[in-house]
Amino acid sequence: MIQNELLPDEPVQWSSKSAHRPPELSVIVPTYNEAANVELLVEELIRSLQNIDWEVIFVDDDSPDGTTDAVRKVAKNDVRVRCIRRLGRRGLAGASIEGMLASSAPVVAVMDGDLQHDASLLPEMFRRIRAGDDLVIGSRFLKGGGAAGGLSRRRLSGSRFASRLARVFLHIEVSDPMSGFFAIRRAAFEDLAPRLSSQGFKILMDVLASTPKPLRTSEIPLLFRMRQHGVSKLDHRVTAEYLSLLLAKSTGDLLSLRFVMFAVIGGSGVGVHLVALKTALMFGWTFSLAQMAAAYVAMTGNFFLNNMLTYRDRRLKGWRLVSGLASFWLVCSIGVIANVGAGQLVHDQASTWWLAGLAGAGLGAVFNYVATSMFTWRAR
Ligand code: GDD
Ligand code: MN
Repeated sequence: MIQNELLPDEPVQWSSKSAHRPPELSVIVPTYNEAANVELLVEELIRSLQNIDWEVIFVDDDSPDGTTDAVRKVAKNDVRVRCIRRLGRRGLAGASIEGMLASSAPVVAVMDGDLQHDASLLPEMFRRIRAGDDLVIGSRFLKGGGAAGGLSRRRLSGSRFASRLARVFLHIEVSDPMSGFFAIRRAAFEDLAPRLSSQGFKILMDVLASTPKPLRTSEIPLLFRMRQHGVSKLDHRVTAEYLSLLLAKSTGDLLSLRFVMFAVIGGSGVGVHLVALKTALMFGWTFSLAQMAAAYVAMTGNFFLNNMLTYRDRRLKGWRLVSGLASFWLVCSIGVIANVGAGQLVHDQASTWWLAGLAGAGLGAVFNYVATSMFTWRAR
């Protein structure tokens, strides 16, 4: 049989050559528009990791500036340089997670691709994990560390404030849970990976908040350097995502990151609705017509906000934006029925107006969320 010719029955001889075995350390570098930094970073890794068997995995979200080309170019001369090119997705956290899951090394590290992180800390991080730590964090807030060179005063106090929130709400005790530079034992990471959110920037905080068993954690001082090429991608959206992550994690994942954003945006729609209603009434529209128009104005606003924020990783464009809006209108119109129905039901039982209203709105939100995630922004 042909099959036998292709696959002889002899047992496979697994290679015992060290060159064929996975490296001891995988360095994961999420990138978006970092073409000018790739080669410099690899040079820094080569200099810093002389006594360690390592590889670097760039995880690029199809950057328009040709970052993947830059990686492939360096990879031509060095098998230790690998690249994952992700299509149709965005996000630092998701990219870092995928990179770590692509590794077979016992130790993985995540670092920024813009040279703001000091690669010479990697050997010490690696050594500590070998010696028994599960997680080693490069901290800007430890004595000997700092960020004055790399961050504006506003960014720095923002980062401090975010750390304080994490301490209060999630009881995370490390000095810099916002750091983007850390190493982790891969086996520990594999355990907790299914619980992580792929949205947002805050992968380390998510790791600390989601781990099923405590991680043996230590920190080393990190001097966060200045960016030489390219620009930062941290913006207001990232901050909003952080706050939702905080809420999701402090409710034990009862409220998913996406649902929280969806609900908050839905809540803001009430304001839009009232403004639109008032405007229409001022133009002399009848109440029911004005009310209906206001509902669609609010829905439309919500659609675009959700498309920009809640589903920024699945953002609809072009014609899909038009059909997406239509399906969003449709789903939310049915949501109103669920809302009123549930509200009525509670009202009949308890006749507390605010409880009935809340129950209706809550059910409507859940319905809209589930249905739009299936029809409007279904994962491709
Ligand atoms: N794949 C991918 N997708 N990578 C991304 C994305 C994305 O959507 N957004 C940013 N990156 C990459 C950047 O290319 C860079 O390599 C790294 O993630 C950090 O992004 P920056 O945009 O340079 O972030 P920053 O310098 O403002 O923020 C840094 O400091 C924060 C603390 O203040 C990061 O280290 C953060 O993780 C850290 O919390
Ligand atoms: Mn940066």
